Amino acid sequence: MARFSDDFLSELRSRIDIEELVSSYVNLKKKGRISQGLCPFHTEKTPSFTVYNDTQSYYCFGCGAGGECITFIRNIENLDYYDAVQFLAEKVGLKMPIEQEDDGLYVLRKRIYEANREAARFFYNNLVKPDCPAYEYLIKRGIKPNTIKRFGLGYAPDSWDALTRHLRSLGFHDNELISAYLSKKSRTGSTIDVFMNRLMFPIIDLRGNVVAFGGRVLGDEKPKYINTSDTPVFKKGRGIFALNLAKAHGRSLILCEGYMDVIAMHQAGFETAIAGLGTAFTTEQAQLVARYADEVTLAYDSDEAGRNAAKRTLSIFQSCNVKTKVLNLTGGKDPDEIIKRFGKEYMQKIIDGSLSSTEFKLAQAREGINTETADGKVEFLRKAVDVLATVDDAIERDVYTTRLSIETEVSKTAIEEQIKRALGRRKKQQDTESFNKARQLLEGRVSSARNALKIHAQNVSIRARQAEETLIASLLHNPDLYKKLEDKINIDDFSSDIIKRLFIIISERIENQQELDLIFFANELNPDEMAVLTRFLQKSRTVSNTLEECLDCIKVMSEEKLKQSVKDPTELSNEEFMRLFYKKE
Ligand code: GTP
Ligand code: MN
Repeated sequence: MARFSDDFLSELRSRIDIEELVSSYVNLKKKGRISQGLCPFHTEKTPSFTVYNDTQSYYCFGCGAGGECITFIRNIENLDYYDAVQFLAEKVGLKMPIEQEDDGLYVLRKRIYEANREAARFFYNNLVKPDCPAYEYLIKRGIKPNTIKRFGLGYAPDSWDALTRHLRSLGFHDNELISAYLSKKSRTGSTIDVFMNRLMFPIIDLRGNVVAFGGRVLGDEKPKYINTSDTPVFKKGRGIFALNLAKAHGRSLILCEGYMDVIAMHQAGFETAIAGLGTAFTTEQAQLVARYADEVTLAYDSDEAGRNAAKRTLSIFQSCNVKTKVLNLTGGKDPDEIIKRFGKEYMQKIIDGSLSSTEFKLAQAREGINTETADGKVEFLRKAVDVLATVDDAIERDVYTTRLSIETEVSKTAIEEQIKRALGRRKKQQDTESFNKARQLLEGRVSSARNALKIHAQNVSIRARQAEETLIASLLHNPDLYKKLEDKINIDDFSSDIIKRLFIIISERIENQQELDLIFFANELNPDEMAVLTRFLQKSRTVSNTLEECLDCIKVMSEEKLKQSVKDPTELSNEEFMRLFYKKE
């Protein structure tokens, strides 16, 4: 793992204000020396996410997330430690220290970025060569040369290893190309290209790096697309196509299904169009989009598969605090086809009349039902009521209820009555869901730290836990105490591996006379461990900070450890038994 010197980290810390940093993601309210807001790491209605100016840290009393600026960026921007530091350094105009050449993964990633950039250049140069079949294909589909350039489209030639040979000639090793998913091993053991005779779409991240490619066949062969698999610089289900371009054109983004749709949209002047990467839309992608959008309009295919995908994607966005809308793509299958058939003015009309997600769901509920008949009306209303029960805003709900009443000629009060019941059902369902969610959380799906704390809570007495927390908090608050305590602390008396590790790292820093600021720990501790450490740091405000208290804690810890480790006193050695005896008091 990359390491940074304390000097560098101190400089970084001095240039960053945690409150200001967090404010660009979370709406914070100042409350004396702290600020609070809704936690960005879990769903909540009342703010328990707290930012502390004095320690430049944050802690959520709801979900236990916590740390300092680097850990915050790691979590919210989905970056690893190194990238988070780089992200912050760029933000405050701090030059990164010279990279250590021995950091293998870092070097490999850099090489992959370079190889990808060279590959994109190679593909592009091939595309604009005379008689390139992919160029003809694009022109035939109405894509203009300017658009080709803007998206950096390209062509992977019809050859086994044209790209591999080209990149080798630039000094890349086969293993680098294979890690980049540009090359692969053939059955005979030679290194060959992954993409052959395909139209190439580079996927570019928000920092301008080429992170992956999508490659489309020029005919009807299968598979239609080959996409880059996971590599050290790319995770499927994380990236967004064209977000790098779209984010400069406003905070109302149009989410399409296909690369070709996005390209056709941009060419027609709808430059806020983006797309996922072919796989089902993920929560991570939604969170990424939510950072650059207040509103997302879905322009999914109008066929059944597209509508189902739209429904799934809408529900993913529901927890992301962005408004969603769905385009009613009448007249064609997808945006690309509609623009080609009816022109961009028509597309604009569709966008202007875009259905709210409630309208879309109501239209879906109506589909296939003859609402002229009494039975049809009942069936439609039953579905419609379920839809309206998912609308949180009372005014919006009322508007639709009125419309429904007019459409079906059923009294508004009757519909309202049904909605109220559906709301009750939904509330119950939500309670179960949130209960299940909480349980999942505990089961460690989200955070191993919380899992560890749970095990902790079951196995370790509250008394022991308070003792060790107080001890560590005291050391954080007053490192001078360490000298007087070090001989008395038995490392095995700590109740869990995480806490043991925290103690070791803290004591090492104290022994080396290094500062104990949180920012220096983010290097060695993962975000979950950082959260635990931050909790201790908050506690350090309330410890009495005396040698006596610490000695007391050490005593409690060893007593509790003994109690816990031995279930049956007859298994004790004489000495242990005597110790137990004496400490009973
Ligand atoms: P055209 O058919 O040329 O208009 O392409 P398109 O980009 O509009 O693709 P389509 O609407 O068929 O599919 C939407 C998206 O799903 C594509 O852009 C790809 O990201 C993805 N996709 C489609 N087919 C495949 C496939 O065979 N394999 C993979 N991995 N992804 C695919
Ligand atoms: Mn298409």
